[in-house]
Amino acid sequence: MNDETEVLCYCSGTTTGQIRKLLDEGISDPERISRITGTLSGCGGCEFDLQALLDSHKTAATEN
Ligand code: FES
Repeated sequence: MNDETEVLCYCSGTTTGQIRKLLDEGISDPERISRITGTLSGCGGCEFDLQALLDSHKTAATEN
């Protein structure tokens, strides 16, 4: 999950790096991320991975 080029959502081809970029811009609402990237718009199989990424971002934000 730390590889920026790793595909997180196979239905839309969204990579971990793309999601991280949105998080860095302050966009952390899954629905918004879904609208922008297409994540979660297909099979929904990436939901867990997306949530894990959002959680780790939240944790990192609290630590800083
Ligand atoms: S892998 Fe993301 S919607 Fe299917």
